[in-house]
Amino acid sequence: MLLQGLRLNFDGLGYPVAQLGGPLSGGEIARPTGACRPSAVVRGEKLGARNAADWSRWVLSGRITLIATKRLFSLAMSTGPRGALARYWGHSGVDVSVLMPLTTTPQQSKSFRMKKIIYERYGSLSNLSMADVAAPSPSAQTLTVQVKAVSINPLDWKIVQGDMKLMTGKAFPKGVGIDFSGVVSQVGSDVSGFAVGDAVMGALDAMKGPGALAEFVQVQPHQVVPKTTGLSFEQAAALPIVGAAALQSLTKVLRMQSGQRLLINGATGGVGMIATQIAHKMGIHVTAVVSSKGVDLAQQWGAARVINYQTQSVQGLAERFDAILDLSNKLPFSQAKRLLTPIGLYVNAVPTLKDILLTPVANLARSQKVKLLMSSPDQATLQSLHQYASQGLDVHVSQRFNWSDFANAYAQVQKQGALGKAVLVVADAV
Ligand SMILES: NC(=O)c1ccc[n+]([C@@H]2O[C@H](COP(=O)([O-])OP(=O)(O)OC[C@H]3O[C@@H](n4cnc5c(N)ncnc54)[C@H](OP(=O)(O)O)[C@@H]3O)[C@@H](O)[C@H]2O)c1
Repeated sequence: MLLQGLRLNFDGLGYPVAQLGGPLSGGEIARPTGACRPSAVVRGEKLGARNAADWSRWVLSGRITLIATKRLFSLAMSTGPRGALARYWGHSGVDVSVLMPLTTTPQQSKSFRMKKIIYERYGSLSNLSMADVAAPSPSAQTLTVQVKAVSINPLDWKIVQGDMKLMTGKAFPKGVGIDFSGVVSQVGSDVSGFAVGDAVMGALDAMKGPGALAEFVQVQPHQVVPKTTGLSFEQAAALPIVGAAALQSLTKVLRMQSGQRLLINGATGGVGMIATQIAHKMGIHVTAVVSSKGVDLAQQWGAARVINYQTQSVQGLAERFDAILDLSNKLPFSQAKRLLTPIGLYVNAVPTLKDILLTPVANLARSQKVKLLMSSPDQATLQSLHQYASQGLDVHVSQRFNWSDFANAYAQVQKQGALGKAVLVVADAV
């Protein structure tokens, strides 16, 4: 007999029916087979479970509505962990609430699999592949997030190439992708302030992070903030890394004041887009250096003056700037210093180890200073970005790729760049 519309809510766990597909605490394995093959309705689409991994995926994606056979239902009830409390209110179209104090979480089971982009050695982006891997294990201190979108950053291929291997280490496989948006699907018992179903945006540790380009990520609560309501999931994924670099360049690194003059070289890339808008809001006079395709956007974002580097050389400018933020890696300090005031500041956005060691010493001997940008998307910064975004910050996403098209996406953005940002869509992000 089919129990149409039966709903199971496993209180507070975020894994409503995980027990059906994974190992149970007694070591039994309940697999949907034969007569009791279950199906689920996920976001209006009816799906048949082929295996435990399917269940895991649907369960992790949040609430699912079950259309279950009676046998399956009794299996769930009878094979649950000892102490399970079930309340069954009827046979058809009714709610069933089950409290299950799980000793083994579904994600700790070997059958809990997910898709993820990984690489096994440093080198080119062609080393990336989509793999079926064990889902990350939740803990009392972490949140599980079902990933909706992941942004593409130049840092991605620098890490994949091994440019930062001193910091990223030699352990493989590694994941790729730093900032992301998604929906909370599990909340650790020690975590407060988040609930299953919350939309969030955040960033993993770029150097030690497991890679956000996966169906699910485990995060520390300080690595995410609520997604700004006015942003789509794609825009939200695009903000944390470039937003942190932009905000910290202006505030912590340059300590810019209203009325000062700033040259942003590369003002319509990811960092430049946010830096131009926040600088404008801070009352800073922004000269934006862009290519033809970015002229209109730079004006919209508040640049007082826009220079098209394809038709005008920045070197020919007569004015002097209090600060220069070079995001193109094409205007080194040796060339930029003649555009600075005698005590002007220059930001090196891609400091090498040599720069970190030598710049402080070199600065002692000059009045114009080079400042090194080493931004971090800490929680205070994420919260500030959330504030700016709720006040109308434009996060311009010019390119969207399905994450199964990751190879083409990374190759294209590495070669041609993106106006604003490019993102990979992992799950129907809106
Ligand atoms: N240190 C840190 O904490 C940190 C954090 C984030 C990012 N970064 C680094 O900061 C840099 C910028 O990041 P992003 O995400 O903004 O990169 P991006 O989106 O690729 O932006 C690069 C910008 O440079 C512009 N550009 C290219 N050639 C130029 C030229 N000759 N003159 C002027 N502009 C030119 C591009 O404009 P067109 O496409 O129109 O040519 C684009 O707007 C990257 O190197 C990144 O790794 C550092």
